[in-house]
Order: sequence, then C-alpha cells, then structure tokens
Amino acid sequence: MTTRILSGIRPTGHIHLGNYLGAIRSWVSMLDQVDERLFCIVDQHALTTQEDAKDLRKNTLTIAAAYIASGIDPVKNHIFVQSHVPGHTELAWYFNCITPMGWLSRMTQFKDKAGKNKDQAMTGLFVYPALMAADILIYKATHVPVGEDQKQHVELARDIAQAFNNYVGKDIFPLPEPIIKKETARIMSLRDGSKKMSKSDPSDYSRIHLLDDNETIELKIRKAKTDAEPIPGAIDLLGERLEAKNLLSLYAVFTKTSLLHVLTEFEGKMFSEFKPKLTSVMIDHLSPVRNTMLELLADEATLLQYLKRGADAANTLADAHIKEVRQALNMV
Ligand code: TYM
Repeated sequence: MTTRILSGIRPTGHIHLGNYLGAIRSWVSMLDQVDERLFCIVDQHALTTQEDAKDLRKNTLTIAAAYIASGIDPVKNHIFVQSHVPGHTELAWYFNCITPMGWLSRMTQFKDKAGKNKDQAMTGLFVYPALMAADILIYKATHVPVGEDQKQHVELARDIAQAFNNYVGKDIFPLPEPIIKKETARIMSLRDGSKKMSKSDPSDYSRIHLLDDNETIELKIRKAKTDAEPIPGAIDLLGERLEAKNLLSLYAVFTKTSLLHVLTEFEGKMFSEFKPKLTSVMIDHLSPVRNTMLELLADEATLLQYLKRGADAANTLADAHIKEVRQALNMV
C-alpha cells in the first residue's frame, strides 16, 4: 500500500514553537519514510473564526516559508494552499451530507471556540471537522502527523471515511491514522504550564514566534514563568511544577536528549542558571530557520511558484479521487 502523509497549519496569528515542534519538525523527521508527502496551508479553515481572517495573505505566505525553511523541499514534497485545490470543499460537502450533527457537536475544539452561545456560532466553525476530513481523504492519506490537540479531529476523519465507505458500499477511503510524537505532542504556554502554547493566547509572552529575533527569544525565556526551587534530579520530583517541566522538556527536545538526562545535568541548579542555556540552544536552532524564512518572504514570486507547483500536483491527485467519489455517489 502507498503510504501518504498529509498535514496542515491554519494561517492565523503568529506561527509558533508549538506548531514547529508539534507539527513541522515531526513531519521533517518522517519525510524519507513515506511514499508521498503533502503539506497544506489551510486558509479556508482560517475563515471559520472571523478575527483570524485578517492578514490571511501574509500569514499564508509566512507558513509556506516556515515549511520550506524547516527542511521540507518544495520540489520533492507537495506544499500548497488549500483554496488552490477546489476538491477539498467539494468533498467536504459530500461529507456534510453523511456526518451526523451529534458527531460535530462533540468536538472539543468547537465547544471551546463556540463558547456558551452555540446558536451564534458560525456554521463554518461547526462543520470545520468535515472540511478537515476532506483535506485528508481527498488524497487518500494514510497517516496524519499532528499535535495532541488534533487527535480528536483525525479520529473523526476515520469515522467519516468509514461512514462514507458504508454509504456507497465500497472501500473508497483508507482509514487515516494520527501520528503524534510523545515528546512534542503538547508544548505548553510560557506563562501558564497548564495551557497549551497557542496562537490565540492574548499574551505574546506565552509563546515563541518563529519570526522572533534573538533578543525577543531571550526576553521571552527570561520572563517565562518558573519557580524559586532548584531543579530536581528525577522526573517524579517535578510534581506539579508544570512551567518548570515545560522548559526542561524544551531543552531536552532541542538538545535531542531525554528529560531525565536534562534533570541529571542541571540537578540542584536554579532556573536563573538554566534559562540562558535554554535560550542559547533555542537560538542556535531557530535563528537559521528564521533567517531562511525572511529570505523566502523577500522573494514572493519564487514562493508563489513553489505553491503553484504544489497545487498542480495536489490537484492531479484530488481530481482523480473526486471523480471516483462522484461515480460512487451515482452522479451524472
Ligand atoms: P493548528 O493550525 O491549530 O495547528 C497546526 C499544528 O500544530 C500543532 N500544535 C501543537 N503541537 C504541540 N503543542 C502545541 N502547543 C501546539 N499547538 C498547535 C497542531 O496539533 C497541528 O498539528 N485543524 C488543524 C489544521 C488542519 C489540519 C488539516 C491538520 C486543517 N486540516 C488536515 C492536519 C490535517 C489546526 O487547527 O491546526
């Protein structure tokens, strides 16, 4: 069986360290293990929350630049913008017609974003997961590398694939599997270790942006919440020190070691001593990515060419699959 991965990022707000570690870096680590690789910038998803739709163009190009600067070759892989492939929204419509409202109402992301007044929430926000299922299944993707927060959506895509196959009596779609890397599944906010790092947090100090300069990274780590206790030598001794655990885990990720190894290295030291070390490994890793992103963004014509190339390849695959779907649905 052909293995195909598809994943995507919403071009809303600033792309941050959680997106980079939880998604992009995990994609890069598996590039040579799968037959076909598609990476989408899901601009139509950004429209489901109106406040996020401003700066859509700039944010879309920034995410494309982040993919390439992080090591995804736009010639060997398909990097494209969701709205450049009309098959996504067509398939999403067919999925809307076979997806019970109960399944969508249970999605935690909808509950969080819609808040208390669900009747006022936009329909697009409600049917978001059906469009996400279409993003994945239009390519018959077999694996979907994401952060922990997207697991429920990928599981729903499996249910939708199965429901569609049952409806047409034919195994058109594979059941896609989420791939979630344990160490980077949930990068936490720098201000509150019980919350995930997120584009929608009002505080810029809660996250590192991929385009932050070295001084800003240094400042954000210096201001990151910690405590006045020394660093312990064992994981269970970290207890409820969530912010401490987050920073120490980030150091482990950037130095490619384990959390236990980091604890052994810094046992008995204070965070005032640890933070400059974390800043330094972070800057060493992130500044080349940032510089390449800035170069790519300065040459928009080339970036757009890469996106066109990606969209052409994606459209070829999507068109073949959408024909099969229309046939299965008995359309003329
Ligand atoms: P989005 O744009 O919120 O996030 C993009 C990716 O980054 C991961 N992520 C994190 N990982 C670890 N720690 C964090 N703090 C963190 N914050 C974000 C997310 O899990 C995700 O992998 N619905 C999706 C976009 C989407 C999509 C798709 C993804 C639309 N269609 C098809 C995969 C396949 C979303 O809103 O991700």
